[in-house]
Amino acid sequence: AASLQGRDVLTLLDFSPEEIYALLQSAEELKAQQKEGKCPQLLAGKSLGMIFENSSTRTRVSFEVGMTQLGGHALFLSPRDLQIGRGEPIKDTAKVLSRYVDAIMVRTNSHEKVAELAEHADVPVINALTDWYHPCQALADLLTVKEQKETLKGLKTAFVGDGNNVAHSWMIACAKMGMDVYVATPSGYEPNEEVVKEVEEIATSTNSKVVLTQDPVEAVKDADVIYTDVWASMGYEEEQTRREESFKGFQVNSDLVNNAKDDYIFLHCLPAHRGEEVSAEVIDGPQSVVYDEAENRLHVQKAILAATIK
Ligand code: CP
Ligand code: NVA
Repeated sequence: AASLQGRDVLTLLDFSPEEIYALLQSAEELKAQQKEGKCPQLLAGKSLGMIFENSSTRTRVSFEVGMTQLGGHALFLSPRDLQIGRGEPIKDTAKVLSRYVDAIMVRTNSHEKVAELAEHADVPVINALTDWYHPCQALADLLTVKEQKETLKGLKTAFVGDGNNVAHSWMIACAKMGMDVYVATPSGYEPNEEVVKEVEEIATSTNSKVVLTQDPVEAVKDADVIYTDVWASMGYEEEQTRREESFKGFQVNSDLVNNAKDDYIFLHCLPAHRGEEVSAEVIDGPQSVVYDEAENRLHVQKAILAATIK
């Protein structure tokens, strides 16, 4: 396994391209072994605490199953049941959980909360989605692209839609691995400026491009990879109607993907809304790899857990 013992996984900004590559390689090995019915018991006797303030299908199930496959155990912790939900400080929660479990995974709207938890925890803290980032998703996306295209460097990728958490992590992942990333959003829904600045710096060092545009056609023109995500993320549900209006023209559909390379692949982190950010024809079509992408969450998370837990 890649060795990142004791490291937190809050954002891919903290990882070098070599470290990301090592995680992908470890995920590929674990995947190949699992397909042969082998599950190395790398985390026998270890426990993962999973705090979910928001809903989840993929993240929860893949982390829990991943721990089981590696010989360890995962605990699903809801804030409805934890004392944190009744106001116990994050610091005390972090300190106490660190005395029981070997790593903490957390999904919450607030990136600051995860950072505070990580600051006080004595075990690795893994970000399972915040308002800013979704690093485990981006690693699964990279693995999926690598499987389909064999190489990452030099590819053109397009993210079309909301400049959200998934867009941020995808931009970071692309810049780190030397892929060009075009991000098409409506005005007012651009990715966060600070994140863009950091991504631009990384892209300079890997000789790749970061382009923000309001023109989806420019973004997907000759693209190898087209990625989209929901228009209204968790926490923004009440903006749904306004966003449907703002995002008109940003649907990934047959007309739009016709501008991409013939062998483009379609990514979506899921859950998806057919008829909104993507047409059924595209997401259910032959160039969509969304279920491989979802499966790969399991393999990359096993790689992350095996690498970070002491
Ligand atoms: N893609 C993703 O993180 O899915 P869940 O919200 O179901 O975990
Ligand atoms: N951007 C979405 C991703 C869900 C996995 C959200 O934050 O709700």
